[in-house]
Amino acid sequence: MLDTMPRRLPGLLLLLWPLLLLLLLLLPSPAAPTAPRPLARSGFRRLGTHGPGGSPGHRPAPAVPTGAPYSGAGQSGGTRGAGVCKSRPLDLVFIIDSSRSVRPSEFTKVKTFVSRIIDTLDIGAADTRVALVNYASTVKIEFHLQNHSDKQSLKQAVARITPLSTGTMSGLAIQTAMEKAFTVEAGARGPSSNIPKVAIIVTDGRPQDQVNEVAAQARAAGIELYAVGVGRADMESLKTIASKPLDEHVFYVETYGVIEKLSSRFQETFCAADPCVLGTHGCQHVCISDGDGRHHCECSQGYSLNADKKTCSAIDKCALNTHGCGHICVNDRSGSYHCECYEGYTLNADRKTCSAQDQCAAGTHGCQHVCVSDRAGSHHCECYEGYTLNADKKTCSVRDKCALGSHGCQHICVSDGAAAYHCDCYTGFTLNEDKRTCSAVEEARRLISTEDACGCEATLAFQEKVSSSLQRLNAKIDDILGKLQANEYGQIHR
Ligand SMILES: *[C@@H]1O[C@H](CO)[C@@H](O)[C@H](O)[C@H]1NC(C)=O
Repeated sequence: MLDTMPRRLPGLLLLLWPLLLLLLLLLPSPAAPTAPRPLARSGFRRLGTHGPGGSPGHRPAPAVPTGAPYSGAGQSGGTRGAGVCKSRPLDLVFIIDSSRSVRPSEFTKVKTFVSRIIDTLDIGAADTRVALVNYASTVKIEFHLQNHSDKQSLKQAVARITPLSTGTMSGLAIQTAMEKAFTVEAGARGPSSNIPKVAIIVTDGRPQDQVNEVAAQARAAGIELYAVGVGRADMESLKTIASKPLDEHVFYVETYGVIEKLSSRFQETFCAADPCVLGTHGCQHVCISDGDGRHHCECSQGYSLNADKKTCSAIDKCALNTHGCGHICVNDRSGSYHCECYEGYTLNADRKTCSAQDQCAAGTHGCQHVCVSDRAGSHHCECYEGYTLNADKKTCSVRDKCALGSHGCQHICVSDGAAAYHCDCYTGFTLNEDKRTCSAVEEARRLISTEDACGCEATLAFQEKVSSSLQRLNAKIDDILGKLQANEYGQIHR
């Protein structure tokens, strides 16, 4: 028992090692990001506050592999399916504090941050226009909104910017942006264009002038202000500058080294989310993206859009008069229609025209003998030969040939049912060979006695003849009665 254990152990380990591996992977590692979700998944325009004491040193899982080039606008760095987000046109002014960026590498980081944001935008005279205001103790507009209408020259212009002197005149910078950069002369588009005016101020210090009033003026002028604080930036003044809600407009990064991470957040902010994809469209049937975050609703076939531009109503196809229904048009809930027929009619194979229902086939006719369908959906009853239709137009009675008076019987006419009859004679008479006339028995006797003087044999033979004749008659009547009874309730169709 004991010496079998060590031999079994490696086998056991072999079985358990995948579990151990899994356990190791699940254990928190200092290298693993503690950020619960990638930045880019934080939702549209929902950027979260990053105040001082945020998460320095933790490199959040990059939305894009580091070093991977950002391609043009519309791409969301692989964090979202293509087509969900498209850069919407903006008048965008960067307000960059270059005062403390004594170290050239840090200023390079700011320029990379600006370039990355530019990369995610659709740059063009008709799309997003970008200006850059550089400031320290002085303010310099590096380029205006209308100066660069392509990404390439814009990024080259950003790359050429150099830091200014010391000082942090944030208020003056905002005022300059408002008064000189966001003007129609400088290339900003007018209020009727509905192009958002956006400013991103990046600073790592404390403003040396008043920012409250000028920022409020800028916001009142319709400029959406984003504030990015770096390092020892004064976050309180950034909150004064930024538009509301603050958690969507104020950002903080510990160092310039991670500032470019914010570019993906701005990409989301500036993207025109596709409401059709987001599911916020409210279209009852079909949502059609028109780009730039716009959409319109459409309806399935057979429906039309209601006045609310969202819900759909079935088109009244019956009202259109193109339905082709012979009798009745009925609108269906699905927006289509179907034809129906008046009572007594059935829909034909074409599903439109109607034919009179064959009441004879339906078995509801009530004819005793024969039901005859008429063209117009009606029917009538008929009787077998030898029968006549009664007043109820349904039942049949034997047509009495004897009653017609053409039977030719000299004495008695006996009806044999359907169209048949025979003649009979009164007592003391016998039917002659012609089956119609009668002769007195005396006469017959006489006829017999002329042949037989005794007449006994003749009398006996006569009696026998009469009685067998009566028996046949009885049997015939029984037979006829039976047939009549059998037919009485029969539903007979022609
Ligand atoms: C840039 O735009 C400004 C303002 O419209 C204009 O005065 C200036 O000439 C432009 N510069 C270039 C290089 O086009």
